[in-house]
Amino acid sequence: MTNMRHSLDTGPAAIRPPPGCPPIDAAADRAHFPALADGLRYLDSAATSLTPTCVIDAVRDAMLAGGSAHRGLYPLAQRATAALEGARRDVAAALGGAAEQIVFTRSATEGLNLVAEGWARPRLTAGAAIVITRAAHHSNLLPWRRICRAAGAELRIAECDARGVLDLESLTPLLDRRVVAVALTHVSNVTGAIAPLDAIAALRRRHAPQAALIVDGAQALPHIAVHAPGSRADFYVFSGHKVCGPQGIGAVWAPVERWAEAEPLLVGGGAVLDVGDGHIVWSEGPARFEAGTANMPGAVGLAAGLAFLDRHRDTARSVALTAALRTRLARVPGVRLLGDPPGAVGAVSFVFDGLHPHDVGAVLAERGVAVRVGHHCARPLLAHFDVRSAIRASIGLHTSAADLDALVDGLRAARELLAPPETGRGEVHR
Ligand SMILES: Cc1ncc(COP(=O)(O)O)c(C=O)c1O
Repeated sequence: MTNMRHSLDTGPAAIRPPPGCPPIDAAADRAHFPALADGLRYLDSAATSLTPTCVIDAVRDAMLAGGSAHRGLYPLAQRATAALEGARRDVAAALGGAAEQIVFTRSATEGLNLVAEGWARPRLTAGAAIVITRAAHHSNLLPWRRICRAAGAELRIAECDARGVLDLESLTPLLDRRVVAVALTHVSNVTGAIAPLDAIAALRRRHAPQAALIVDGAQALPHIAVHAPGSRADFYVFSGHKVCGPQGIGAVWAPVERWAEAEPLLVGGGAVLDVGDGHIVWSEGPARFEAGTANMPGAVGLAAGLAFLDRHRDTARSVALTAALRTRLARVPGVRLLGDPPGAVGAVSFVFDGLHPHDVGAVLAERGVAVRVGHHCARPLLAHFDVRSAIRASIGLHTSAADLDALVDGLRAARELLAPPETGRGEVHR
């Protein structure tokens, strides 16, 4: 964690904190983000982070340069190869790893499917088990459910408590010699709860040492400087568009030994050195998992996004800002927050006075406030909180007090507009 930056400024750029806390600066100036130029109050960074100008420039330069990586000996293609492999080194370095440990994917979703299909599925037999958690995003649930069904294996779900915190006592009995993989969500996209990776890795070592630990880091990396080799994960999965990079690119970190055990998800050009009528010689290293022409501009953008994040990310600030957001929302009459995980980071979900989240989202949108409404691709966790749909506000590097003010004002306006005056309340929306 980096130190929290405190400010004496109580103007609009500083978060108005709960009483007794010092104010907190926004981590990066809004001017970095062209999408904010029209005054948008963007509280949906958990869906996708806004792209800073320097990343847009890096992608544009890569596209202007052009060329197909690993596909030619002429200078243009060689420069594209150098750009792709340079990006791989930079992405690996940002996670404390080595270039050959990084496989580029299209997204976190593709990364999780790659690990499920490529590494776990060949090891899964009838009677084996995969462990996931109640906090799983659908992208870290459905790939496991599919391979379990195909193999006749068991999908075990570790529960969360009422605060939305993973219940280690419910996890422990699920871990035994039959478990092939434990797939975790590092940070919940609904509650911002941070999973205790160290404690879980220790439980895995004690009760299921043969099982791989797969970590969905899509919501963690935007706020936490993850050291992948030190995380004890066997596979650490993330996407570019949540770390200030472009959409359409993601990556998986894993030790080389793990990659050596895995099968590719996609097969095709670039994944093989040789193919004959009866034989295949697979490419060495990450290329085996990256069939097809590489998304070189995406990889360059991902590296640029992580570099930008590295300059501005401040975990303590994210935690404090998330706490300030929770406090502000909790004070709005009619707001019920989903869960209350200590030290939450990034996202806060809530229901509001029985109003339909989509209606509230529409009123906020009209006022220039962007939040996410719906099930957040986490139906099992929403069911745990006994709701079908919720409003989610999430923070980015640019989030400031003015964003929180606009959200709170917008919620009051939504209540005025949407709650029937006779009853003063809508029906409880489950
Ligand atoms: C926790 C979590 N995992 C996985 C994903 C899927 O990421 P992507 O859209 O990049 O595939 C998301 C996206 O919201 C997420 O929040």
